[in-house]
Amino acid sequence: MAFHLLIFVALLWTGVLGDVSTVKNLEVMEGHTVSIPCHYEPKYARYIKYWCRGSTFAYCKVLVRTDDVPPTKGNVSITDNPAELVFTVTMTSLREEDSAWYWCGVDIRGGRDDHAYVHVKVIHGVSVLKNEVSGEKGGSVTVQCLYSIKHSRSEKQWCRSGDWSTCMAAVSNRTVEHGRVRITDDGVSAFTVTVQKLESRDAGWYWCAVGHHQQESVRITVIDLRTVKDDTHTERRQGDGDMDGSELAVAINPPHLDSRTDGSKAAVLFSAVSKQVHMF
Ligand SMILES: *[C@@H]1O[C@H](CO)[C@@H](O)[C@H](O)[C@H]1NC(C)=O
Ligand SMILES: *[C@@H]1O[C@H](CO)[C@@H](O)[C@H](O)[C@H]1NC(C)=O
Repeated sequence: MAFHLLIFVALLWTGVLGDVSTVKNLEVMEGHTVSIPCHYEPKYARYIKYWCRGSTFAYCKVLVRTDDVPPTKGNVSITDNPAELVFTVTMTSLREEDSAWYWCGVDIRGGRDDHAYVHVKVIHGVSVLKNEVSGEKGGSVTVQCLYSIKHSRSEKQWCRSGDWSTCMAAVSNRTVEHGRVRITDDGVSAFTVTVQKLESRDAGWYWCAVGHHQQESVRITVIDLRTVKDDTHTERRQGDGDMDGSELAVAINPPHLDSRTDGSKAAVLFSAVSKQVHMF
């Protein structure tokens, strides 16, 4: 199953400076896919857009343009959505050598092209989509542990912090059940851990571990509705059917990102978590 994932580590927008803006820094797991939204002013709606690679804009190499037919070159594609004033570049199967400076460019015929840069770094190891997840008592929580392609065949485990004897192993391309914990590994880029029928004692810190030295922590919070009802009544009502405030601060991602086709969605599909990736 193709897994579309994106991790925005430093969420700094160039917005104020130009008429084209995007994120400045991205870290993406090797082997994964990244979609980068480039926003522009209404005056550029009808212009051709392009994606360029190079440490300076003046000498960058154009990889793909919106007027290419089809607008795809190798593992890179571009889609313009003038209604939303955004064009989106998708790079799949990222490799280490794809780490570089890239530019969102707008072709201003007869003028100086407008642009915004983004630095993409392709990293190895393990990461999580959200470092904090919460679920109601009796409900479930899902954690996505992402790993680079190099680790597709490494041992993967889900462990409770402080007690390595609790580690539960994932099996490539399989779903395994360890009591209330279900682990599904796609064998390529991620394993998903679902803890069902949450109990109060499930709250705490866990690790997604890959290979022998790589791990990323995740905190699970269990909400007992019977105890929070009285004091947080108003806040909870506000979040009904949506997300509560604490979760919103962490991530805006649904657990499964498989339909990120339009640019507007891509713009909000980021995880605002500043995460630590443990390198070896
Ligand atoms: C696309 O990515 C795959 C997997 O890394 C690689 O084998 C292939 O050469 C890439 N294609 C292009 C055109 O870069
Ligand atoms: C798991 O599935 C992926 C994609 O279908 C495949 O490339 C990989 O070789 C499989 N891994 C194992 C261990 O079967």
